Amino acid sequence: MATTPHHAHWSSRWTFMLAAVGSAVGLGNIWKFPYQAGLNGGGAFVLFYLVFVFLIGLPVLMAELSIGRRAQRSPVYAMEQVAREEGRSKYWVLLGWSGVIGGFLILTYYSVVGGWVLAYIAKATLGFSGFDADTSRAAFNALAGDPVEPVVWHVAFMAITVAIVAQGVKAGLEKAVKLLMPTLFVLLIGMVLYAAVAGDLAAALKFLFQPDFSTLFFVTTIDPVTGTEIQTFTITRVLNALGLAFFSLSLGMGTIMTYGSYLTKDVNIARSAATITFADSAVALMAGLAIFPIVYAVGLNPDENVGLVFITLPIAFGQMTGGAIVGPAFFFLLAFAAITSAISLIEPMVSFVEERTGGRRPNIAVLIGFLVTAIGLLSAWGQTNNLLGDVSVFGVNFMTAKGYLTDNIMMPAGGLFIAIFSGWFISRKNAMDELALNDGAFRKYYFLVKYVCPVAITAVFVSVLFF
Ligand code: PFF
Repeated sequence: MATTPHHAHWSSRWTFMLAAVGSAVGLGNIWKFPYQAGLNGGGAFVLFYLVFVFLIGLPVLMAELSIGRRAQRSPVYAMEQVAREEGRSKYWVLLGWSGVIGGFLILTYYSVVGGWVLAYIAKATLGFSGFDADTSRAAFNALAGDPVEPVVWHVAFMAITVAIVAQGVKAGLEKAVKLLMPTLFVLLIGMVLYAAVAGDLAAALKFLFQPDFSTLFFVTTIDPVTGTEIQTFTITRVLNALGLAFFSLSLGMGTIMTYGSYLTKDVNIARSAATITFADSAVALMAGLAIFPIVYAVGLNPDENVGLVFITLPIAFGQMTGGAIVGPAFFFLLAFAAITSAISLIEPMVSFVEERTGGRRPNIAVLIGFLVTAIGLLSAWGQTNNLLGDVSVFGVNFMTAKGYLTDNIMMPAGGLFIAIFSGWFISRKNAMDELALNDGAFRKYYFLVKYVCPVAITAVFVSVLFF
């Protein structure tokens, strides 16, 4: 294959960190983590999520960054090149492909949720005064069920993403990320403090941090005939936690590999990866702590599903002093966080097509953006009461089905193969040179990618087949 090597590099370690944190921190932390924690029973799920983030996510993150930086190319070519240099099968290139396709698929629903966030900037400007649990839920359902409004915002979200990607990584991404990511952090801290004072902090802490393993491993249903409760053993919630760990860290999709390919040799990968992982999980926990005290204070249930953040926070904004300013500011920053992640979802495909065809980046970005937008219509219209609301794929709507495929199957599988490749198919010496770690730290990393990650991910996958 004819390839042009990458020459773009981040201007500094600091911009790389911001961009990587920008990719990791997004709807996954602020929209998905809270609603998944709510649906999957709280504490025990959160505990598994955190264990997966640090024991599996962190080493896979280091492995992806190492491969990207070593090759200085987008994932497809990076996998091809590193496999060739190590004398391995050319089929490892498929891992690069699955990332390019997975990122594309995720974006087809991610941008619909991103569109909801844009819609909420507008709604927040008008204010949420008097919102209670019922009115807020009705307002969200009205938006998600509307055939036109979410589509308009979804198109807007994609247009912004494409406009930034078209300018290239440095010009487009770096400037925006520098200012807005830190601001989001600060605002989120403020919202956690507000929720702690105005909401039911004790109930939220109990829900998020007191593990009750029966909620993780057993699903309760009611027998339609006898009316009695039936407890069924399940591993699906553990898989949800694993999938969320990969999703929130942007792993297994070649995204982080692509960002690694813009890295210079002087950056310490392990230290950067640790910082990204801490920042990412901190934001998820902060989002949980901003949302659940309100959930309990206003009498909502934790399992509001995809609407949770959109239903809960407006109630808080409607009640707090200054809510008319904090509300729009929050949704604006959340939209920004979502856009920095969306950019990273489309970037592997754009940079691949650019390298492959030598075509112009703006044209490529527009074309891919157009395809994502078109396929994304299925997610927008697949919501309850919307045009395709009754269509079910394996018993769920389009968005949930795509999310299950990408987050619970493709990302952990991508991570599994990256761990296997890095632990078993890259020579120990090359892995060590790229990471430049001391002996002890390298041994820990190597043990995790070689044994812990493959065994743990495989164990979860296999058990899900049986339970
Ligand atoms: N990590 C992003 C989030 O938490 O919103 C989503 C994401 C970005 C997933 C990039 C995967 C990816 F490759």
